[in-house]
Amino acid sequence: MKVIVKENYDLMSKAVADNIINYVNNKPKSLLCLAGGDTPLKTFEYLVKAAENKEINLTEVKFVSLDEWVGLGPATKGSCVETLYTHLYNKLPINVEEQVCFFDGLSNDLENECRRVDSFIESCGGIDISLLGIGMNGHLGFNEPGVNPELKCAVIPLDPVTKTVGAKYFDEEVDVQAGITVGLKHLLDAKEVILIANGEKKAEIVKKTIEGEITTEVPSSLARNSIDSSIYIDTEAGNKLSK
Ligand code: GLP
Repeated sequence: MKVIVKENYDLMSKAVADNIINYVNNKPKSLLCLAGGDTPLKTFEYLVKAAENKEINLTEVKFVSLDEWVGLGPATKGSCVETLYTHLYNKLPINVEEQVCFFDGLSNDLENECRRVDSFIESCGGIDISLLGIGMNGHLGFNEPGVNPELKCAVIPLDPVTKTVGAKYFDEEVDVQAGITVGLKHLLDAKEVILIANGEKKAEIVKKTIEGEITTEVPSSLARNSIDSSIYIDTEAGNKLSK
């Protein structure tokens, strides 16, 4: 796994966006799997800017969103779907109906939702880029510690850490017990796996991801087994690394 350390969050985000722009311009028919959460927000700003300046060709790109809180949908500010549409999809010159696939966290047939998104990913020939924020417990999407790495799309009970940390996204108290997520099998088989983390609060999990044991207890560490993986961090997130 390549480790790319940038001086600050802004430079880190710019480098991630540049990587995605280059990839897509070389392979216009790409499938991008993009995380919600706070970490990718600045990368999204750079992608929007690049699209405005016509520096990226998105006409044939497809997007699959990484995850959603079960029971939440677009009406809840802070849900994954609301975050992605507000900060990215609605700002890009794309046909969202045709180019974006998203889990419906409100569906009463979540198993069917999983198979629907599996089919979408498979019909695109797999994921090109997985852009993944690292959770405080090392989760990727809602692939929580102890997850089966062979899972495709799945519904997964939330780890206590995720429930506690998750409160930061919402204005009101929400009762969420599970997440629906693209599984590690799809994510880590991507042509490029990009992990991102910034800030002092992520320093411990970044150290475990890069220097700790490769274990399902730290899902982000499994990215080290992917054929092409990189982790972009800022200096604060890297300050516990031994080298
Ligand atoms: C959240 C979300 C993920 C996100 C991750 C990291 O729980 N389910 O989509 O990538 O955890 O979040 P953040 O970037 O806010 O630290």
